[in-house]
Amino acid sequence: MADVVFFHRVTQRYYKGPQILREASFRLGEGEMMFLTGASGSGKSTLLRLIGSLTRPQTGQIAVLSQNISQLRRSEIPAFRRQIGIIFQNPSLLAERTVFDNVALPLVIRGHSGADIGRRVRGALDAVGLLNKEKAFPITLSGGEQQRAGIARAVVATPKLLLADEPTGNLDPEMAREVMQLFMRFNQIGVSVLVATHALGLIRHLPYRIAHLENGRIDIQSADDAAAPAIAEKLI
Ligand SMILES: Nc1ncnc2c1ncn2[C@@H]1O[C@H](COP(=O)(O)OP(=O)(O)OP(=O)(O)O)[C@@H](O)[C@H]1O
Ligand SMILES: [Mg+2]
Repeated sequence: MADVVFFHRVTQRYYKGPQILREASFRLGEGEMMFLTGASGSGKSTLLRLIGSLTRPQTGQIAVLSQNISQLRRSEIPAFRRQIGIIFQNPSLLAERTVFDNVALPLVIRGHSGADIGRRVRGALDAVGLLNKEKAFPITLSGGEQQRAGIARAVVATPKLLLADEPTGNLDPEMAREVMQLFMRFNQIGVSVLVATHALGLIRHLPYRIAHLENGRIDIQSADDAAAPAIAEKLI
């Protein structure tokens, strides 16, 4: 299995801040879904930012979608990022645009036709249960609804790799389960997925590997790989 994300002895420390990663290594396989866990402040968001090339590591190698991150030129970063759907811990929706326009943005940037945009945006909004909010402005949405709009925006252009940072934090248990199932469905159609989460109860029984971040190291807790596809099939 080719790697979609490859970390080799990556070290990361913020200026005058704590040491986040200490020669940490791990890999996310092509088409794999994996969870990222760890205490608050352990570095989950930082790790996702490194993958999305929003932050650069001090030392070590990071390859994402067959590209060596440290060799990316500044001018190449936008095209690189377009291959990745990122769901941020705090969804940053544009306040002066409707939910529809916010979700449509990645497609507009990629030059999709109007008809295609309409079809895809409604499909994504439907998947997160927000079809009735397409004309609403972000300020009128609840925290969970904003979070779901952020998810729709991240998946609308069917990225090869989906990174989600605590995507169920503001959701009730039922909606949280539905969002996890949405990620699983994406994974079933071939999207590689990495989800940072505190919701251990929600993921414990799911058939995916868990990358646990602690003291700057990544510890991989294996799921039963052989059984995973069959179990996932039953759950979604
Ligand atoms: N830009 C920054 N400059 C300096 N320190 C930072 C910066 N961003 C994060 N940190 C620090 O790095 C550590 C890891 O932060 P990070 O946001 O990656 O953790 P996290 O695992 O995502 O936490 P949470 O579960 O609370 O979201 C924290 O101690 C944080 O205070
Ligand atoms: Mg975080």
